[in-house]
Amino acid sequence: MQKEWRTILKITNEGPIAFFDSGVGGLTVYAKLKELLPNEKYIYFGDTKHMPYGEKTKNELLEYAGNILDFFIKQNAKAVIMACNTTSSTIYDDIKNKYDLKIYPIVQSVADILSNLPINKLGILATHATVKSNAYKKEIQKHNPAIEVIQIACPEWVKIVEENKLDQPQSIILVKEKLDEILKYNPEKIVLGCTHYPFLIDIIKKFVPEEMLIDPAIYFAKYIKEDLQKNNLIKNNRRYEQIYVSSNPEIFRKSAQRFYQIKNSPELVVFN
Ligand code: DGL
Repeated sequence: MQKEWRTILKITNEGPIAFFDSGVGGLTVYAKLKELLPNEKYIYFGDTKHMPYGEKTKNELLEYAGNILDFFIKQNAKAVIMACNTTSSTIYDDIKNKYDLKIYPIVQSVADILSNLPINKLGILATHATVKSNAYKKEIQKHNPAIEVIQIACPEWVKIVEENKLDQPQSIILVKEKLDEILKYNPEKIVLGCTHYPFLIDIIKKFVPEEMLIDPAIYFAKYIKEDLQKNNLIKNNRRYEQIYVSSNPEIFRKSAQRFYQIKNSPELVVFN
């Protein structure tokens, strides 16, 4: 549903705040915003059928996001949270003006804060697509050209989280391998530039001091709250949450559990 449609409908502060990601990763952002704004209506879409997004083409991502945004519009969403670094990096610029919806992309929303860190060298761990887009580097250096940005792709990490394989020895090896790779560059801080990665924090902490790690979700949630306030989109609603997935609701619920307890089973949604 494109802009012409949306202008007929009126965005009010009544509607839900809608999140999407390829799977459970975006819950790391959702949990933070819910802490800051507990009395909102929330919907969350995990596009599990198409994960991992980091291995998809731009056209594929545009198609998936198009379906999800249409779905959110039908639910009268007042804001859409791109709780996904991959779509923020690759397709946000293409869709931001097509929809008359308030869309918040994670990378662009936190770049200013990251660029102000009192450091010279910043490491970014992210998906293939995010690294290839150079979005973190471009957005951060727009604010601070002096900061050096090192990026390493960790393509296997998303599946470890989605398939709930956190306890397998092979997963620990795969995580350590990528951490060793980025540590060779001596970054002063390391950004978990994929919303799935905070699920791996217990493994990551074994190899990297926690003070070195940055989960952008903390800054992102704060940014969203302030911007919603500025735009008069906050409302003390009756608390509401509905989670949707495009495949395997039960696997989603189980994988999510380590980070976020989902009360009702997620609802399966199939787009034609
Ligand atoms: N969690 C998403 C991100 O932040 C997508 C990961 C994926 O599906 O590859 O990039």
